[in-house]
Amino acid sequence: MKTETTIHGLTASLHAARQARKTIGFVPTMGNLHQGHLNLVREARKLCDVVVVSIFVNPIQFGPNEDYDSYPRTLDQDSQLLAEEGCDIIFAPSVEQMYGSQPRLTNISVGQITNDLCGAQRPGHFDGVAVVVTKLFNIVQPHFAFFGQKDYQQLAVIKTMVRDLNMPIEIIGVPIARAEDGLALSSRNGYLSAEHRQIAPVIYQSLKTAETNLKQGQALTEVLAEIKSTLSDAGFVVDYVEARNPMLQAVEQFDQDIVLFVAAKIGSTRLIDNLQISH
Ligand code: PAF
Repeated sequence: MKTETTIHGLTASLHAARQARKTIGFVPTMGNLHQGHLNLVREARKLCDVVVVSIFVNPIQFGPNEDYDSYPRTLDQDSQLLAEEGCDIIFAPSVEQMYGSQPRLTNISVGQITNDLCGAQRPGHFDGVAVVVTKLFNIVQPHFAFFGQKDYQQLAVIKTMVRDLNMPIEIIGVPIARAEDGLALSSRNGYLSAEHRQIAPVIYQSLKTAETNLKQGQALTEVLAEIKSTLSDAGFVVDYVEARNPMLQAVEQFDQDIVLFVAAKIGSTRLIDNLQISH
């Protein structure tokens, strides 16, 4: 396994694979890898000849009061995990390497589906994601790129951007990896105190209860209200609890496949989760 820190180095490392027409699979990450990321790498390994994983904490997707500075940077540990998964190349550029010293004048904004859910709480976040993912796609030029379904809205934004801009890449969504107690794996789980870690699985439990209740005929509005009150009673400050169809359009009732979305803070840690429910 190689680690490249420059665009030039990565391009040189991929040259032979491109000449030999090998399929390139790409897993973009911000590092501090957990089983969720490693599942993406395993999927890439199954489908592609060459697997590239980027590790880059992207400053432009963090708001001014968010955790850019404190976001965990664990390159040595990540490298070891990726070597064990059979990753071929890590691309770990600096901010300077990715953004240079000239002001960036180009933005990428995916309309409508970025206006609500996490987009409402984190203005500019999805533009920052769209820009860095486009830059990484242009640098790596993969055939396939792998994203976790935990960031469902992000996955929808990337799929929409790739479709709208005719990017020649197939986007693969990979199911959420969960701890044994149901908590969706996230690098931000590391911020949780022992007490909050005990409470955090209530998010998934409330989503599963909601699924059961919906399937038994309870009204969607009631089910959403119950998730909110369960979370508040457990000590969360709820950002949103919403239902959408799989394309992220609003739904009034459970008369089609839906996705339930939760974002909630426990202490100072903001957690997100979602559950796809078929009708
Ligand atoms: O999901 C993430 O880790 C990031 O948003 C991504 C896709 C690597 C872009 O920085």
